[in-house]
Amino acid sequence: MQNVIFLHGGVGGHTDYSEKVRGYAMNSMTIDPLDSVIHAVMQLEDDPDFNAGTGSYPRVDGSIQMDAAVMTEQGFGSVVGIENVRNPVLVARDVMEKSPHVMMSGDGALSFARKMGHGFYDASTERTMEKHRKIMEKILNGKEELLPREKFIAELIKNNESTGDTVGAIARIDGKFAVAVSTGGAVPMLRGRVGDTPIIGCGFYCGPKGGIVTTGIGEEITKRLLCYNIYLKIGSDSLQNILDEAVKDFGNIHVGIIAVTKDETASSANGNMSTGMHIF
Ligand code: GLY
Repeated sequence: MQNVIFLHGGVGGHTDYSEKVRGYAMNSMTIDPLDSVIHAVMQLEDDPDFNAGTGSYPRVDGSIQMDAAVMTEQGFGSVVGIENVRNPVLVARDVMEKSPHVMMSGDGALSFARKMGHGFYDASTERTMEKHRKIMEKILNGKEELLPREKFIAELIKNNESTGDTVGAIARIDGKFAVAVSTGGAVPMLRGRVGDTPIIGCGFYCGPKGGIVTTGIGEEITKRLLCYNIYLKIGSDSLQNILDEAVKDFGNIHVGIIAVTKDETASSANGNMSTGMHIF
């Protein structure tokens, strides 16, 4: 069985970053699937072109809250709404390996991260702050037609472009699987909103049959328990058909999925999704 590292850089963006995503996949070759997916996602988090780690989009109040998760066949760890750390995926790994918990959120996750040695880091960039200003202007000035998500925010704060460039990685090394995911969320969103990325079975799943990670509008992915439901279907049809069917169910709501099983790899998305695979 060949070893595989499969990455995506999120669905819904306008630029195709597949070439550099392929490079990140190649750089992530190790002898351990968890080390490989962590290394892959760290590179994507550190690249400001992706909505994870550096380059995460702000919430409507301007704060940056990030979600990340890791999973092996043995267990998982995730962080929800963590702020001011450089690599949320590393904190998720610490939750899995160094704590008795599986999920940590908000201030508690941050204080755990500091104890584990993750220092202060400002994940904002000029590009994301500019995008935030533009979205808020659109929501507040009421001149353009608003998407339902934007209308909700507009009504709440009284007075598209939707983005879901979550990043994700799956590795199959010596027949063992691991997955990792990280995101700044899906704009526009309130402070405290939680998407699919840190929730087991929604934005990620991994077991002896394979690994699956998703990108797109987290609320819709979560409602469908998307990754776990795909996991249950492995073997019932070709992996490509299973993923295509799942994407069809979203209509025009952005979603992207990548999956690796013992003998197949597949990806499916209803928008532009940069992917990269390395086989060794
Ligand atoms: N898929 C990322 C999110 O909705 O938060």
